[in-house]
Amino acid sequence: MNQDFSIRALLGDSLLPPNEARMLMAHVLEKYYQLPRTALLSRDVMALSSEVMMQWQELQSKRLAGEPIAYLIGKRGFHNIELYVAPGVLIPRPETELLVEIGLQEIGRLPQAATVLDLGTGSGAIALAIAAAAPQALLMASDQSEEALEIAKLNANALSLATRVQFTKGSWYEAISKHARFDIILSNPPYISGQDPHLMQGDLCFEPISALTDHASGLSCLEAIIAGAKEHLNPNGLIAVEHGFDQSKKVLEMMKTAGLRDIEGRQDLAGHCRVALGRNSGDQ
Ligand SMILES: C[S@@+](CC[C@H](N)C(=O)[O-])C[C@H]1O[C@@H](n2cnc3c(N)ncnc32)[C@H](O)[C@@H]1O
Repeated sequence: MNQDFSIRALLGDSLLPPNEARMLMAHVLEKYYQLPRTALLSRDVMALSSEVMMQWQELQSKRLAGEPIAYLIGKRGFHNIELYVAPGVLIPRPETELLVEIGLQEIGRLPQAATVLDLGTGSGAIALAIAAAAPQALLMASDQSEEALEIAKLNANALSLATRVQFTKGSWYEAISKHARFDIILSNPPYISGQDPHLMQGDLCFEPISALTDHASGLSCLEAIIAGAKEHLNPNGLIAVEHGFDQSKKVLEMMKTAGLRDIEGRQDLAGHCRVALGRNSGDQ
C-alpha cells in the first residue's frame, strides 16, 4: 500500500476540525523539524518520517479523546506573553486578561512603583503579564499548589522575569507576611460550584480540580480573599477578583461587608459581569 504521509494529505485526512489539526501539525513541525508555522503551506508536500507520524497520530488521538490543545502543545498565549502549560495548572483564559488590564490601569495611575499581589497564580499568568508590561511594578505571586508554582517559576525564567516576581506558597494570605501591604491585589480563584456539571465536561475535566472549584458553593475562596483584603492593602489600594457570570451580586455584597469602597463590577467582552473591584479606605 502506498500511503501518503505528506503534511497536506495528513491534514486533509484528519478527523479534527481544520484549525485544530493545523495547530497540532505546526507543533509537530516545530518540535521535530524546527520548522516555523509557515511550513504548513510552504512545505506541504513534505512527508513526515514514520517516527514523527506516530507522534502525530498520538496527538490526534489524544485530542479526539478531549485533551486540551494547550496541554498537547504545551503552551498558551495570554495577554502579551506566551506561557508554558501542563496538566498541573489551569489553562489561562482570555477573560482573565481583564484583571491584567485593570491592574495595568491602576499601575499607570500611581505615582510610585506599584506593589502587586497575585493570589492563586497558577501558571503565573496574571503576575507575569503585568511584570512584562509594567517594568517598574514589584510583584508577588502565591499558590498553594507546589506543581503550579514550579510551572510559574519555569515561565518566569523563560520570560526573563524571574527577578521581577517573588513566588510564595500557601493558602491565600497565609502565603505572605501578616504585615505585608500591597497597592493592588488581583485574583482569579476557583469559583465553580462543586455541583456544577461543567466540571465533568470539555477541557475542565483535564484541568486540576483544585484550580476550578472549592468543592462547595463556589464562593468560599472569593469570600476568604475579599475578607482579608483590607489587612493587606495600602490606603486606597485596589482589589479586583474574577468570578462566575452569575456570582456578581454576591461578590459585590462581600466587598461591601468587608468594608471596601468604590465597589463596582466590570463586564467581559460577552457582556457578563465577571470582575468585582473595591478599594481600601484612604486613612490608615
Ligand atoms: C482558577 S486558577 C487561576 C490560575 C491563574 N491565576 C490564571 O488565571 O490562569 C486558581 C488557582 O488558585 C490556586 N488555589 C486554589 N486554592 C488555593 C488556596 N487556598 N490558596 C492559594 N491558591 C489556591 C489553584 O492552585 C490555582 O492555581
